[in-house]
Amino acid sequence: MWMGIDVGTGGTRALLVDERGKICAGFTSPHDEMRMERPLWAEQHPENWWEATVKAIRGVLAESRISSSDVCGIGLSGQMHGLVILDKSNQVIRPALIWCDQRSQEQVDAVNRRIGRASILNYTANPVLTGFTLPKLMWVRDHEPKHFERVHKMLLPKDYLRFRLTGEFATEVSDASGTALFDVIRREWSAPMLEALGIDLAILPRCYESSDVTGIVTPAGAGSTGLAPGTPVIGGGGDQAASAVGNGIVEPGIVSCTLGTSGVVFAHMEQVAYDPSGRVHTFCHAVRDKWHVMGVTQGAGLSLQWFRNQLAPGEDYDALMTVAAKAPAGSQGLFWLPYLMGERTPHLDARARGGWIGLTARHQRADLVRALIEGVSYSQKDCLDIIEQLGVPVHSVRVSGGGGRSPFWRQLLADVLAKPVVTLATQEGSAYGAALLALVGTGTYSSVPEVCRAAIRETEKVTPRPENSAVYQDGHSIFRTLYPALKPAYHMIAQL
Ligand code: XUL
Repeated sequence: MWMGIDVGTGGTRALLVDERGKICAGFTSPHDEMRMERPLWAEQHPENWWEATVKAIRGVLAESRISSSDVCGIGLSGQMHGLVILDKSNQVIRPALIWCDQRSQEQVDAVNRRIGRASILNYTANPVLTGFTLPKLMWVRDHEPKHFERVHKMLLPKDYLRFRLTGEFATEVSDASGTALFDVIRREWSAPMLEALGIDLAILPRCYESSDVTGIVTPAGAGSTGLAPGTPVIGGGGDQAASAVGNGIVEPGIVSCTLGTSGVVFAHMEQVAYDPSGRVHTFCHAVRDKWHVMGVTQGAGLSLQWFRNQLAPGEDYDALMTVAAKAPAGSQGLFWLPYLMGERTPHLDARARGGWIGLTARHQRADLVRALIEGVSYSQKDCLDIIEQLGVPVHSVRVSGGGGRSPFWRQLLADVLAKPVVTLATQEGSAYGAALLALVGTGTYSSVPEVCRAAIRETEKVTPRPENSAVYQDGHSIFRTLYPALKPAYHMIAQL
């Protein structure tokens, strides 16, 4: 058996797969609520992740009833971009600033002034964003100098678990890519970034390819978790790259669209390419010597969740889909802007706001709901268009996440993207991808594409309906004009 562990935001999941990648058991242990002490802040305690990991590992071992010595290897995956800092005695200095923490705009501006946006793109293939790890470290330097002085090591969330399991300070290329300190093209820490900011390379973990073995479980790690000492721990991946492995997005032509709270369009790249204005993220893939590009709509499922909580309490999502299906394609000229949490790609604007545009007295509830689903899908198309402009081929889209479970949304997505939309037999996401990486790391398969070909199966395919696609093509041209037109107003609103 091989184990995949994913430290998410809400909880940590461990699962076990056999040598064909078939899932045998899974166990999730929830985390404490994230702390949001002030607006834009989001923190979690790494010790809480470790406690959840111990429970998830013990839980999955108990459920499967296998002996720990039957676990041949472990892959790790996790929420990206979080800042975990340790002192000389390997104690966590302060709670982690996690991926959605947005407090570091001042530090982003300072890094841009010091190094220059063009050089940063050149060194790291991406702009520095408030969500990335570097500006979080700079925030600690500026606001908590006593903590900063003690920093001996800086780790990403899943790599803190690796340290607790193996005693090694290590990461892998896909997660390192989201720190803003990593040369994504050369697949190594960026010497010019570190030098310009006076950061010592020694505080960073050693960086591996995602399917490399990074260490073995120590007797102490084994004592806590019930794993066998000596079990190899494989690099794994940031949650998006790992989930892409779990969805088989490891060869050209197939992209994924994950419609969870956020919506992520993810494509594999054989040759590295990045958008000169940084409107999508270019990161190393968990596939050796390959890259990926991704676009993130912050408020995808969140748009529906907000609507349900505020305007349709007690209704479930299936009922909302049935309501939406009653409106015609294009929602009679009504548009939804899904920027409830600002927007990441392509607008990179934390001040963007959500809302309906085009409302008339004629519109009914069905139009309002359908417009939500169309607006989220248009914003995913914004990202997909940029990805295609980078020369990445897109033949079909594999859909997953809560939104992907709705046949209505799948068809609508196919119509908006004008691509076939496909579902998969296994919808386990990041922990599953981490387990597949472990199968490669221990030598059962020779490459990530090979294990994906053996383990992943498509189940259903929907193709775009030409008449609706034509409506959506026009709709998307209008949608694209809305953010630029509203941007000045959004920025004034943010000043209030
Ligand atoms: C990726 C990203 C999220 C987090 C949390 O860039 O921010 O996927 O990793 O899931």
